[in-house]
Amino acid sequence: MVSYKELGLVNTREGFKKAMEGGYAIPAFNFNNMEQLQAIVSACVETRSPVILQVSSGARKYANQTLLRYMAQGAVEYAKELGLNIPITLHLDHGDSFELCKSCVDMGFSSVMIDGSHLSYEDNVALTKQVVEYAHKHDVTVEGELGVLAGVEDEVSAEHHTYTRPEEVEDFLGKTGVDSLAISIGTSHGAMKFKPEQCTRNAQGILVPPPLRFDILDEIMKRIPGFPIVLHGSSSVPQQYVETINKHGGALKDAIGIPEEELRRAAKSSVCKINIDSDGRLAMTAKVREVFASKPAEFDPRKYLGPARDELKALYKHKTINVLGSANRV
Ligand code: G3H
Ligand code: 13P
Ligand code: ZN
Repeated sequence: MVSYKELGLVNTREGFKKAMEGGYAIPAFNFNNMEQLQAIVSACVETRSPVILQVSSGARKYANQTLLRYMAQGAVEYAKELGLNIPITLHLDHGDSFELCKSCVDMGFSSVMIDGSHLSYEDNVALTKQVVEYAHKHDVTVEGELGVLAGVEDEVSAEHHTYTRPEEVEDFLGKTGVDSLAISIGTSHGAMKFKPEQCTRNAQGILVPPPLRFDILDEIMKRIPGFPIVLHGSSSVPQQYVETINKHGGALKDAIGIPEEELRRAAKSSVCKINIDSDGRLAMTAKVREVFASKPAEFDPRKYLGPARDELKALYKHKTINVLGSANRV
């Protein structure tokens, strides 16, 4: 048993309180390798932003759970070495069982998500409550989810959104004791969030996706004022990355994300945590493809992963400063 407190990590309680008061959202960036972690930590130190490091169960399988935990511990020390002890949370993304959540609590995670959104309401309540009871004994915070996002959530996929039902949220909070709630208001995972036929074209000919359901968010906030809300599936899918990838041999078709203005608006509300993974994947892939195309003789991984890391860092700085508003909050 390792306590996250010994590792210098923090749970989400204090950070969400500040985010709620300050009208911003804390970035939750997924990682599974060293370059991503370096980019996240250096970007957040340089912009003075708190950060949530997210590990999915896929990432855990890919990188080894023990190694990831030590990397998060290393991230705390790395931030200090860079000159600022920013608050860092190590969070399990989309935990799907009590055993997985318990194992993360036991090995030093400071926050876990239990995603029972695909279960019946009653089963979601029961599973979430079980995780909360265990996690809270160790002062680990828990994120639950109501409503289902369209697209792929880890190994589970859903064709259509099931928007969160505002009438369920108070009961869910009361019965489970969760610390934050992920909701479904029109975001989805991955780079293909909308089909072109769902979008309209603006005056510049750019495809504009259907707006998020802020009416549902407002209704939820009315029922649970001041309670931290989480938005998954919040990548914006920058078109310059899609174009670079496709220009250099990629085949990304119809990649459309959430407009940044909508995320800025959400960040000013009760949304305290915004999850971004796909944009980082696109940034790295675009840069690696560019290097391979312009320097075909290059075979030192540092020569393509290094530029990819720099691109990623620039992207994360942009997110904290211009989208989430979490910059200059430490
Ligand atoms: O919500 C899913 C995250 O983007 C993690 O994706 O399961 O492929 O690691 P992953
Ligand atoms: P994106 O696929 O939009 O980056 O969402 C990531 C996410 O929600 C991780 O939990
Ligand atoms: Zn997610």
